[in-house]
Amino acid sequence: MGSFNIKSLESYFKIYRKSVRNPKKFWDTIADENFTWYQKWDEVVEYNMQEAQFTWFKNAKLNITKNCIDRHLAKRGDQTAIIFEPNNPEEEAKHITYKELYAEVSKLANVLRDQGIKKGDRVCIYLPMIPELAYTVLACARIGAIHSVVFAGFSSVALATRIDDSSCKMLVTADGGYRGNKTIDLKGIADEALEKCPSIEKVLVVKRTNEAIKMKEGRDLWLKPLTEKAIPNNVAEIMDAEDPLFILYTSGSTGKPKGMLHTTAGYMVYTAYTFKNIFNYKNNDIFWCTADIGWITGHSYILYGPLLNGATTVLFEGIPSYPNHSRFWEVIEKHRINQFYTAPTAIRALAKESIDFVQRFPLESLKVIGSVGEPINEEAWHWYNDHVGGKRCPLVDTWWQTETGGIMISAIPFVTPTKPTYASLPLPGIQPVLMDELRNEIEGNQTTGSLCIKYPWPAIARTIWGDHQRYKETYFSTFPGKYFTGDGALRDEVGYYRITGRVDDVIIVSGHNLGTAPIEDIINEHPAVAESAIVGYPHDIKGNALYGYIILKETGLSRDKSNLAKEINQLIADQIGPIAKLDKIQFVPGLPKTRSGKIMRRILRKIAEGDFSNFGDISTLLNPEIVEEIKNERL
Ligand code: PRX
Repeated sequence: MGSFNIKSLESYFKIYRKSVRNPKKFWDTIADENFTWYQKWDEVVEYNMQEAQFTWFKNAKLNITKNCIDRHLAKRGDQTAIIFEPNNPEEEAKHITYKELYAEVSKLANVLRDQGIKKGDRVCIYLPMIPELAYTVLACARIGAIHSVVFAGFSSVALATRIDDSSCKMLVTADGGYRGNKTIDLKGIADEALEKCPSIEKVLVVKRTNEAIKMKEGRDLWLKPLTEKAIPNNVAEIMDAEDPLFILYTSGSTGKPKGMLHTTAGYMVYTAYTFKNIFNYKNNDIFWCTADIGWITGHSYILYGPLLNGATTVLFEGIPSYPNHSRFWEVIEKHRINQFYTAPTAIRALAKESIDFVQRFPLESLKVIGSVGEPINEEAWHWYNDHVGGKRCPLVDTWWQTETGGIMISAIPFVTPTKPTYASLPLPGIQPVLMDELRNEIEGNQTTGSLCIKYPWPAIARTIWGDHQRYKETYFSTFPGKYFTGDGALRDEVGYYRITGRVDDVIIVSGHNLGTAPIEDIINEHPAVAESAIVGYPHDIKGNALYGYIILKETGLSRDKSNLAKEINQLIADQIGPIAKLDKIQFVPGLPKTRSGKIMRRILRKIAEGDFSNFGDISTLLNPEIVEEIKNERL
């Protein structure tokens, strides 16, 4: 096992140095010793950072589901692979063993093939957090179809854009989904989306809520009768290391969402490796990541990472506040969770409630707690560390992105001393650098800069589906020869990293990436709107919230402002989803613009934050008087 398990700080440094000195050898050993391959690779990595081209484990042949499921059958076939915890605590949890998972995934894989899905076809998955979501993802991987999971909180327009962008041939959805005390009409939303999606030939529908829904003859099929007839065995497709595994959409600061493409072998090696080390997973532990599988965190650390390690992973359908604010802690006690991985926004929301909700539970089963998705502020860090981790469980603040496939910077529990608000040190194989404004690498510690990675790692996204040029420009052109994360970071005196936030026009709201330009485009579609600018401002629970400055057309000026604000938010909810709604909308007569016509967002940000102390140099503004006006009317 050599470098697979990092056991002490000394060995971390040793392994890290080795991984930088000879990355090929480092990844070669890990890939060689820990997975099942039909055929090994000719070359560990070939890459070109300028062209954004990466080949990992060249010509190797494998199937990731053989590694996630089949290879565990002999030793732990009867062990639980997935615990399904339903939204309603009265409904019984379901324990799915590795043997059962094998049968379910095989059946579904056979159904997909019967319905005409072949290797390379795209299958869109729009499902709530139910076992069929896991089965479908894995069934796609089994037959070499490319899964594109769309978070079930997205609207019909957002779903249609994603289906259309990658011309998905099939949609797998459900009649509906539960979320706290709400029921979501998923099939209705999907039907609306499909009016604009000619590529979809078949829709498979899972029954979850038993709501009455419409089934379109010749297109829609209930899944259950098909799986009931299917054979519980399936010969896995032989995949090339670089065959696509999945597409997952993430928002950019401009334009349509980016379909990040991940491929098979590199993603497998990296998620397995990071899961094992970052969560200190031991046999028979129960791991719970509260993310949705609609996000990368769910892909890598509910499904692939844990299953690759033969772990028991929890799939939770509910939300932290239903039926009350103890739900997380109840589930931890109920299933004796050992590793718990959640987002700062959930922590902040729960920390606002009475401390009794958490204090009633001893939470003694916990060994490691983790955070992901946005910077965790000091107050939330301590609350989580003290009341959930009992000051005894290491808190791993894990920094990574949809694009990175797996965790990049994080403490390793019982190895790296943690420091509040610091993600701490890079994983072996990861070479972060900070860059200054002149695009030079900043040497030494106690410094801040733009965070880049200067050497590829196995799970780096390979491209943006259908638009390699955009991939190159977004990530590899700002700092030529390096991968630019879009985040700023600080490096302390010992080399620990603290992520300070986005340096582009992406705003992280409740852990979700939202590009400002796509939201502005939607607002500008409203007939009463002339122009708009969105900025983020600090929010107690969400981390950031959205503040919109909107200029109305002549025709809009006489309209009731609160109705207009509602209409605008409804438009955003319809086109993207409720997560992108604006918290504050200020109607303004103008926006501060430079002589070249660029909106000076820095000023708008300061006003939204309520910080009027220093607007910096505004001499290049065409209309400096507007700043006063906007400031005086601030919400
Ligand atoms: O800004 C960083 C923030 O989330 C961004 C990536 O978002 P996404 O692709 O949706 O993936 C989220 C889950 C991996 C990053 O560019 N981010 C993520 N984790 C952290 C973080 N910021 C600070 N600390 C973190 N631990």
